[in-house]
Amino acid sequence: MNTELRDHWCGEIKSSDLGKKVRVAGWVSRFRRHGAIAFLDLRDRSGIIQLTMNEKTLNADLRNEWVIAVTGVVRLRSEANPKLATGAFEIEVAELKVLNHAETTPFLIQDETDALEDTRLESRYLDLRRPILQKRLKTRAEIIKYAHEFFDNEGFWEIETPILNLATPEGARDYLVPSRLHHGSFYALPQSPQLFKQLLMIGGLERYYQIAKCFRDEDLRSDRQPEFTQIDVEASFLNQEEILDIGERFIAGLFKKILNIDLERPFYRLPYWEALDRYGSDKPDLRYELLIEDYRDVFAGIDFPPFVQKTYIRGLKIKDGAHLLSRKLLEKLENESKKLGLEHLYTLKYIDQHFEGTLGKIVTPSLGEKLLARGIQENDLLIIGAHDDRRTISFGLGAVRTYWAREQHLYDKNKHAVLWITDFPMFDPVFEDGKQKWKAEHHPFTRPRDEDLKYLDNDPSRVLAYAYDIVIDGYEAGGGTLRIYQEELQDKIFRLLGLDEEEVQRRFGWFLKAFRYGTPPHGGFALGLDRLAMILTGTENIKDVIAFPKNLTASDPMSKAPGAVDPQALKDLGIGILNE
Ligand code: AMO
Repeated sequence: MNTELRDHWCGEIKSSDLGKKVRVAGWVSRFRRHGAIAFLDLRDRSGIIQLTMNEKTLNADLRNEWVIAVTGVVRLRSEANPKLATGAFEIEVAELKVLNHAETTPFLIQDETDALEDTRLESRYLDLRRPILQKRLKTRAEIIKYAHEFFDNEGFWEIETPILNLATPEGARDYLVPSRLHHGSFYALPQSPQLFKQLLMIGGLERYYQIAKCFRDEDLRSDRQPEFTQIDVEASFLNQEEILDIGERFIAGLFKKILNIDLERPFYRLPYWEALDRYGSDKPDLRYELLIEDYRDVFAGIDFPPFVQKTYIRGLKIKDGAHLLSRKLLEKLENESKKLGLEHLYTLKYIDQHFEGTLGKIVTPSLGEKLLARGIQENDLLIIGAHDDRRTISFGLGAVRTYWAREQHLYDKNKHAVLWITDFPMFDPVFEDGKQKWKAEHHPFTRPRDEDLKYLDNDPSRVLAYAYDIVIDGYEAGGGTLRIYQEELQDKIFRLLGLDEEEVQRRFGWFLKAFRYGTPPHGGFALGLDRLAMILTGTENIKDVIAFPKNLTASDPMSKAPGAVDPQALKDLGIGILNE
């Protein structure tokens, strides 16, 4: 770097610079005056270097966040600061130019802050000066760079797909954009480039990828934003194994590049139903054990009404957990399971060779023996649920598992557990108008496994799909499927989903038409770039890896988006606002 204002980054001053005259520029991070001399921490995005000033060069007026440019000689500090990368050095200022002043900032520019999130987002440009955020955005840039390198090397071409589209069938609510030229008609922002990447395969492009912006109007969580980025991938003439291999090499390479961690390959594979039964989640965190076990046989014949005739009685056995469970914690756990439809949790604690807890009273000597035979030991805790639906019992107990692990710090944040969830069911059963109906678990273009085609007519619940998710540390970091490429099979799936010909034509006719002209077998996946950046930078908040995120109400506290628009603009669009 050699520009008019500087020839060195602050954070990169090193011993080979000793005695040299250097030029640096940046923000005043701290200014301390000791009589006729003063020390100043100068910050740019690379880090901090200490400046020293004497009577001649002292500018007593300097304040935090002023922008300055300095020329001076690099010296050894009399007392090194081991906390700073440049802590052994300082620059003795020969010349200092104030380039700009700054008002007092609403919060201090430092990693540790107690400023409220909305306060920080309101002045995000100041928040972004915090070194920790800059480091995370740097890692994000490195991930994007690596994605380009990796997929370019594998023969994928980056191709952009449109943002203004017809609404897509992907499950979440669309963000809509009204058309000025076609009053009453709307574009939808893409929930993902799904249909277009398939059309690129039909278009003979064979291997596509894109760093793609996606938009979904759904309830926000700590790992969800309304506007997020996917590393989106599609390829023709590859089977599931070959696609997983590409995804796996990408992820393994990324962990090596960013964290210098060698992930064990091939990644662990866990079929969907096994993941649900054992971990209560389709995105289980395997950094800790805590397995769900079946206790139906143990409670068989016990006269406890909530358990009688329940299809599933399952529980979590928590070693040495008996004294850790307070009434308050149980309430919190129950709140978590309730959100997923599992209303009640029951507990057993084995203390001083007695069973206590909410089920304590029903433990007869023979039940006690059965429990001990299942390996319950002194101070163990059992948290039990009962339900008739396999998904509900699993997800309910899974939520308990996750909450407990977080509360009790059961995992090492610096360790990572990467796996594939495979063999997702094609359909979710739903009961509507007293009838059994089917909903697509992924999207309706997902291909059923060849060996399960025979169940399509009689038992759709048994049909599994060529569908896979990549799960890292309990996050769904990505997912994909092979796609249906034959018209007859696609028709059959639509019929099973209860979509009639008219609706199919109206919603996807334009897309399906393309399939008649020689569609290659194809499939792909999309990785959540933001989630990968979260995992690789060790944060649990997606906003920490997005320069300008929205808050939990999908608003931007800085610009105040979304906002009202000029009445004339609405008129041009043919839109009136309902007064609710
Ligand atoms: P899916 O809907 O599973 O698949 O999305 C892929 C990945 O995108 C990330 N993701 C999100 N990240 C942040 N905020 C959100 N609101 C959000 N929603 C999703 C997740 C997720 O795993 N077209 C298919 C992929 C395919 O089949 O090829 C798709 O979009 O990490």
